[in-house]
Amino acid sequence: MTNYEQEKELAALRALAYVEDKMIIGIGSGSTASHFIQFLGEKVREGLQVTGVPTSKETERLCTLLGIPLITTQIPEKIDLTVDGADEFDPYLRLIKGGGGYLLKEKLVASCSARTIIITDSRKQASVLGRTYALPIEVIPLMWSQIAKKLRDLGGEAKLRTLGTPPAPYWSENGNYILDCKFASIDQPERLAQELSRMNGVVEHGLFIGIADEVIMGENEGTRCFRVGSK
Ligand code: 5RP
Repeated sequence: MTNYEQEKELAALRALAYVEDKMIIGIGSGSTASHFIQFLGEKVREGLQVTGVPTSKETERLCTLLGIPLITTQIPEKIDLTVDGADEFDPYLRLIKGGGGYLLKEKLVASCSARTIIITDSRKQASVLGRTYALPIEVIPLMWSQIAKKLRDLGGEAKLRTLGTPPAPYWSENGNYILDCKFASIDQPERLAQELSRMNGVVEHGLFIGIADEVIMGENEGTRCFRVGSK
């Protein structure tokens, strides 16, 4: 049986090799990013000097616990490296992100980064995006049902993300709702991304295109690196 936790750990460890002293590092969210944070924390304890830019409160808490110095009041214009997870990646390193609900800050931090490395287990590799995962879309709460209807016209089945019993809407850290929109497949991610960006009330969507420089995927006992154009 595949040990996905081990795959995440191996990918995270390999990403650690890209970290250099004095770097400003964007720090992703989710279970794979948490492995990276643990490794980074160990390095900081050993004397490595870095400053982290967390992509969520959850990441901020973990980094603080491990003594990783952080910038939390602003996203710096220049981040040297960002390491984050993903829900899916395709051969062109286009991603679906936002499973944890932090897509807005994750995209902002990655967009300010000179280099973005994505770390995943082997379940996240996809030939075509969207066949397995629903696409998270952060929306202004007052607009969610209108947007859900428009998504249906684009071939997507959008569900409002909820929490708890009885279910209550999930609030993003930015005070918005998240729609999880399932498509049979996302054959033209660039086109869909443009349509979503044009929709009134859409704050951000989980299609990350042209953002990842490299994906490090854990696979069984090792890792595989993907760059655009590599197999
Ligand atoms: C959070 C994200 C995560 O990176 C994504 O959901 C992957 O999470 P995990 O590493 O737990 O599988 O985009 O918004």
